[in-house]
Amino acid sequence: MDIIKELYQAALHSYEKAYAPYSHFSVGASILADDDKIYSGCNTENISYPCGSCAEQNAIGAMINGGGQKIKCIMILADSKELITPCGACLQRIKEFSTEDTAIYLCNKEGIKKILSVKELLPHAFQDLETNK
Ligand code: THU
Repeated sequence: MDIIKELYQAALHSYEKAYAPYSHFSVGASILADDDKIYSGCNTENISYPCGSCAEQNAIGAMINGGGQKIKCIMILADSKELITPCGACLQRIKEFSTEDTAIYLCNKEGIKKILSVKELLPHAFQDLETNK
């Protein structure tokens, strides 16, 4: 299977595992990392609403835990006619582990709907002014 299809299958699998009893909005995210492995995560809500976590956040945690360091591409999948884009906090999280070439794939259950760069989605990201990280 080609890697983009595999990545889509991983995002769909995570979407199906999402724990979203409060918002009823399931999200799956999958990452192809610099170690050429796929890491994924789903949103995981909590009765104490602010304790919930986003799919991208959990996929990034899985990547770091598994030994990946950079995101080659990340797919975000939700059952939505409108394009789902990562929230502001997740964009900053993605930025932390991205390169100039990192691609963000926005998907729904029909397939890949749009591919954008980190710069396009977060043009004025906060960055450390000393290290320029
Ligand atoms: N959500 C994500 O998982 N990723 C995003 O980028 C946006 C929002 C989740 C959080 C919450 O569980 C649900 O979607 C509704 O906001």
